[in-house]
Amino acid sequence: MKIAFLGDVHGCVLHALGAAVMLQARRGIRLDAVIQVGDLGAYPSPERLDESSRRFGRGHPAQGDFMRLLDPPPPFAAGVRLALGQIPPVLFVSGNHEDHPWLAALHDAAAGEVAPVDPLGAYRHVACGNVVETAGQRVAFLGLIEAPGKMDLDEGAYARLMAAEPGSVDILVTHDGPYGMSRDRNGKEQGSPKLTRLIEHLRPRLHVSGHYHHPNGPRRYGPTTSYALALLVQPKVTRWDPEPINPRQQVAAGSVGLFDTGTGAFEYVRDEWLADVRGDALDLAALVRSCAGHGLAGPR
Ligand SMILES: [Fe+2]
Repeated sequence: MKIAFLGDVHGCVLHALGAAVMLQARRGIRLDAVIQVGDLGAYPSPERLDESSRRFGRGHPAQGDFMRLLDPPPPFAAGVRLALGQIPPVLFVSGNHEDHPWLAALHDAAAGEVAPVDPLGAYRHVACGNVVETAGQRVAFLGLIEAPGKMDLDEGAYARLMAAEPGSVDILVTHDGPYGMSRDRNGKEQGSPKLTRLIEHLRPRLHVSGHYHHPNGPRRYGPTTSYALALLVQPKVTRWDPEPINPRQQVAAGSVGLFDTGTGAFEYVRDEWLADVRGDALDLAALVRSCAGHGLAGPR
């Protein structure tokens, strides 16, 4: 079976669906699961945005697509429905940029560890510390980040996974990454020591993370191979780059991973067609229709 992994989305939920639909069509495969590694940008209203999400959102209209998804205009809804006719709903874990109290309330309402977040059923949040069976794999989810003084992993969820039997999980999905995976602009080591310990304890075959917005891996921890994914849609400009880096708002190479559960092979998708999933106002219906002539995958 095949699982697609998607990097940080930061509100660009149509780009995420479009990338998964294109991956299926252009590779002629069927995705059995789609998993997103956090920072979906799950905020129900503009007032609930955190400061950096608000700042980036100003010049990046597609980052408002998550909120549009909650009360979708008819053409928007039509595109999402067409996409969901082709791919499974997306499971996601909490990043550090989500409305955590809102997500917790959705779990209370759903009375379960997997909670749909939008009326069309496109995205389903998995609460921290849970193991979900999908595509024949036992997938553990642990969101948030270890950033002393700012945020920490959910203590109870972490303890629960640290108490699980080694080898009882096939795939671990986290938002933060293992400690020492990379360095920031000041040379400071990035990653979470707690997550390194969790990977070494659980010994899954695969670990996938996000948060640092660039591809990183493969890294090996005993029997585990660990990968981090790029940001799905890079910003148009940054304060560090003199030239615009993504003026057309296209999906980045290395932001999508493809895992074959049979062979155990994980691949960063870097295909040219990723650049066709783009725009400030992505027409998802047109994109899905454009895939009709490609590949083996048809309506689910
Ligand atoms: Fe992020």
